[in-house]
Amino acid sequence: MELDDASDMISPIDMDKAAGLAFRVWTYKQGEMVSLMIHLGDRLGLYKELTDCGEVTAEELAEQTGMSARWLHEWLLSQAASGIIDTENGESFTMSPESSAVMADDEGSLLFAAGAFAGPIPPDTVDSLANAFETGIGLTYEQLGPIAAHTTDRMLGPWSRLALVPELIPRIAGLQQRLGAGARVADVGCGTGTALFALATAFPQSTFVGYDPSRHAVDLANERMQERDLTNVSVLCEGFEGLPAEPTYDLILSFDCLHDMTKPKEATHAIRGALKDDGIWMVKEIRAGATWAENQGNPMLAMMYATSVATCMSSALSEEGGAGLGTLGLHPELLEEMSRTAGFDSIEKHDIGDPANMYYEIRP
Ligand SMILES: C[S@@+](CC[C@H](N)C(=O)[O-])C[C@H]1O[C@@H](n2cnc3c(N)ncnc32)[C@H](O)[C@@H]1O
Repeated sequence: MELDDASDMISPIDMDKAAGLAFRVWTYKQGEMVSLMIHLGDRLGLYKELTDCGEVTAEELAEQTGMSARWLHEWLLSQAASGIIDTENGESFTMSPESSAVMADDEGSLLFAAGAFAGPIPPDTVDSLANAFETGIGLTYEQLGPIAAHTTDRMLGPWSRLALVPELIPRIAGLQQRLGAGARVADVGCGTGTALFALATAFPQSTFVGYDPSRHAVDLANERMQERDLTNVSVLCEGFEGLPAEPTYDLILSFDCLHDMTKPKEATHAIRGALKDDGIWMVKEIRAGATWAENQGNPMLAMMYATSVATCMSSALSEEGGAGLGTLGLHPELLEEMSRTAGFDSIEKHDIGDPANMYYEIRP
């Protein structure tokens, strides 16, 4: 083949388009590095410190914390460059109340986000994920180690802790009264137990059982339970398979976990079997559409699919024949179909303003 012929076959590259794409790709690298800085700030308590001390220089922050002023100064500049904290001159820095809500207030703010930044994924996990592309078999939450339980806890905690009791429960007809009078409640896929503890504290007359197959999550849940001195909760290291076959519970929760399960259909049947005929199944699932086009409005779509590969789909494929739904795989139509097949007749959506999730009230 003549050289001229070969060069004719190469599509010309649109340099503006390529430069735009290169910039977009570098923003992901920027995100990776900023993520590490957020992890360090959260881990070292620097956001809380900045919230407490008002305007500070690196030297003043160093005095306050006993840390190195030079290291703090470079970190502060990185935070200002990221738009997380404010500075006029690169020497003194302030944290706005809005930034404190997002970065420091893990107990009181629904917008708290810093807890999602657990640090880089351990190299062994990355190797296992690469291997999963060959074998098709992913990692369970347990195999992701204690870090996965901690991150899930801090990432998903605020909505369960702060919105479940005041926002969601009152929307469900008769539920508040039933819990107040004394109900039996199960949380399937309870993780570290945040939803359970919020309910158990608000409704001491009711009894609560958590089910989760991750030992790391259950250990953390048990630790928390002892700290809180709650006597109306128990947490079992078992999946949905541990649910009783007879109608036992007035309320069953499954929060952000059906799409992580290898057998979500079987879980739905088991939940129906363990629920009383007048019981309620409360589901929290990612706001997902059934098609690629429907999901285009999601500004965090790239993060969602990446999280799916790293965590949700991986867990849902962690055994041979796993359903593998993944983060965006359980859209409302599929949830409805699964619920009806398992013997549920009524499904109502509740939008409580959680940007990532939709809540469902499902009844037999
Ligand atoms: C994203 S976490 C959500 C935890 C908790 N519900 C929350 O909102 O914080 C998903 C959980 O589902 C659990 N899970 C996976 N397979 C399960 C199964 N077969 N039965 C019950 N839970 C399961 C995982 O161990 C993990 O703790």
